[in-house]
Amino acid sequence: MPRILSHVGLRPLLFVLLLLAALAVHGTSHATDAAPKEGILLVAFGTSVPEAQPAFKAVDAEFKKAFPGSPVVWAYTSQIIRKKLAEQGHPVGGISDGMAQLAKDGVKVVRVQSLHVLAGEEFTALERAVLLDVSKNPGRFEAVFMGRPLLESKPDAQELLAAILADTKGQRNKNTALVLMGHGQSHGRADLAFEGVRSVFKTADKNIHMATVEGARSFEDLLKELKAAKVKHVVIAPLMLVAGDHARNDLAGDEDDSWATQLKKAGIKVDTHIKGLGETPGTAAILVRHAKESTDDLTKEPKKP
Ligand code: CO
Repeated sequence: MPRILSHVGLRPLLFVLLLLAALAVHGTSHATDAAPKEGILLVAFGTSVPEAQPAFKAVDAEFKKAFPGSPVVWAYTSQIIRKKLAEQGHPVGGISDGMAQLAKDGVKVVRVQSLHVLAGEEFTALERAVLLDVSKNPGRFEAVFMGRPLLESKPDAQELLAAILADTKGQRNKNTALVLMGHGQSHGRADLAFEGVRSVFKTADKNIHMATVEGARSFEDLLKELKAAKVKHVVIAPLMLVAGDHARNDLAGDEDDSWATQLKKAGIKVDTHIKGLGETPGTAAILVRHAKESTDDLTKEPKKP
C-alpha cells in the first residue's frame, strides 16, 4: 500500500519537472535564436614536447576569456605529432575533426584562428583544408571566418616586438644583443615575410639579430652580422609560438651544431630565454584580435571591392 501511494505521488512531480525542463530548453533555444552560436578552432602545427605546453595553455586561456561561452577546439596539422600524442593517450584532432566537433557542439559561426607566426606554406595548407571541409559539408555552418597568422601587418610586428622587449628586459643591458630564431621554410613566401619582420624589429632596436632554423636566412648570416657588430653578449630566444624541439635543441641545446654552442665557440657569452611566444604576455592578444577582426568568410564569395 505505501508503495502504491508513493508511486501515485511521484507522477505529478515528474510531470512538473518535465514541463520545467521543456520550458528551460525552449528558453535557451530562444536566446540562441538572436545570435548564432559561435565557436573557435585554434590551429597549430602541434607539439609533443611537454615543456612546450604552457604556451598553448596560455593561448587557450586568452581565447576562452575573449569568447566566453563559445567552445574553443584545438586542431594540430602535423600527422606525426597527432599520432605520437594519440599513442601517449592525449589525442588532438586534425582540422576536419575540429570542424565536426564544433558542429556537434551546435556552433553555427566558426572562427578558425591560425596560430602560425607567418603566413607560409602551412597557413596555405590550413586554408585549403578548411575550404575542403566546407565544400564537403555544405550548409553545416552559416559562416567560417579565417583569422590571419600572428604577424600579418607592420603594427602586428611592432606589437609583438614590444611584448618580446618587455619580457626580455631583465636579461639585457645596452650591450646585450637579442638573437631571435625564426622557423623559416625551404620554399614559399614565409622567408620573404620574415625579412619584413626583421626590418621592423631592427628599425626599432638595432641590437636585435635574427635568422631561421630552416629558412633562407641562415645561422652563418647571423654570425657574420654579430661579428660585424662586435657583439660579445647575447640573449637567445625562439621567434616561435611554442618553445619545442627547435628552441630546446637547435637553439639552446648542448649539441655541437646548436646555435648556443656555435655562438659560445665564437667567443660570445650566451644567455637563454626559452619561452614560446604564446606564453609571452601580450602575444595571445594579437591572435585574439585577428580572430575577432576577421571578415573573411570562407563559405562565401570574396567581397567585391
Ligand atoms: Co620545424
